Amino acid sequence: MIPLPERERILLGPGPSMVSPRVMRTMAAPVLSHLDPDLMAMMDELRGRLTAAFRAPEGSFSFAVSGTGTSAMETAVANLVGEGTRVLSIVGGYFADRLAGMSERYGGTVTRLSYEWGRAVDVDAVRRALTATPADIVTIVHAETSTGVLNPVEQVAAVAGEHGALTVVDAVTSLGGHPLEVGKWGIGAAYSCAQKCVGAPSGVAPITFSPAALERRVKARSFYFDLGLLEDYWVRRKYHHTICASLLYALREALLMVEEEGLEARWARHRHHHLALAAGVGAMGLSLLPPEPERLWTLNAIRVPEGVDEAAVRKRMLQQFDIEVGAGLGPLAGKIWRVGLMGASSTPAIILLFLGAFESVLRAQGAAVPRGAGTAAALDVLGGR
Ligand SMILES: Cc1ncc(COP(=O)(O)O)c(C=O)c1O
Repeated sequence: MIPLPERERILLGPGPSMVSPRVMRTMAAPVLSHLDPDLMAMMDELRGRLTAAFRAPEGSFSFAVSGTGTSAMETAVANLVGEGTRVLSIVGGYFADRLAGMSERYGGTVTRLSYEWGRAVDVDAVRRALTATPADIVTIVHAETSTGVLNPVEQVAAVAGEHGALTVVDAVTSLGGHPLEVGKWGIGAAYSCAQKCVGAPSGVAPITFSPAALERRVKARSFYFDLGLLEDYWVRRKYHHTICASLLYALREALLMVEEEGLEARWARHRHHHLALAAGVGAMGLSLLPPEPERLWTLNAIRVPEGVDEAAVRKRMLQQFDIEVGAGLGPLAGKIWRVGLMGASSTPAIILLFLGAFESVLRAQGAAVPRGAGTAAALDVLGGR
């Protein structure tokens, strides 16, 4: 029999991130049924907390889909894309491609605006695409976890709005880690997950529909992700499915922690720690894939140096140091490591641990990495000596 893990893994992949003991403890509370009045009252509160986390406007419908980030992606698509809906999909990575493919499955007429993996989309290219081929919906991934790139969602949503299109934003790797202003930026719908910068285990996925998006919904082909039925359940207490109370407790506690820290302070923490890691990686003679202004704070895409066995490094990091690091996806497989610093995984201690272990593993591979340079450079940013 495979035993349960006895030691904490340092989760520095593209997600899940580490979950604080405070959040984990909530899941030991007694289970409430999916229609228990106490749970439903907690869900009412949760809707408000999610609206606040998304900075969504008054009248938005925010809730948590029972499932992972992909289930929230599917909820957005199922309710906004129907037969013949014109969709402009901005695609510069694996998850944007998934979102475009999902829009096709739901009957959308999808035009792909493809751009280089590892770069952010050019807003003028979006403007040109919308002028050439008008769209009802624009899909964009805010934080593209496959490339480590942050997309200019604010500007893209503004351009989409000028062209009468509604923007659907994948905020799976940005909610709680990067500024996201659903209301101010005029976003139609945005969704995320629990297991990255929010800091809970995966299994319930935050989503919000703005009043404009609620008006433009289509008849969903999916039963499970039908917004009307989900609204009946979350708002009018009508049975739809048996939601997991324990995961809602965890999500609620994680959101309380976000509120206590403050969204701005949390964004600043993610930025600061990313800068420390980037300084460390640079001092080791390595580089990040995206150019500096386009980099995520939550996910660092580190180029694999010539002659180093990418998979062997990840294996050794896990076996010797209990540190999980992600591999590249699609065309970036074998070319990058993906190092997430999200939620409870974004701490000075973890950065130093990672850089020390990474140096040792790279040196064992024969890479010419100077001893101690990574941690020293990170400490300069973190304020140590
Ligand atoms: C940007 C992005 N979108 C969607 C997903 C899918 O989320 P999940 O794996 O939770 O279904 C991920 C997962 O990493 C992601 O990074």
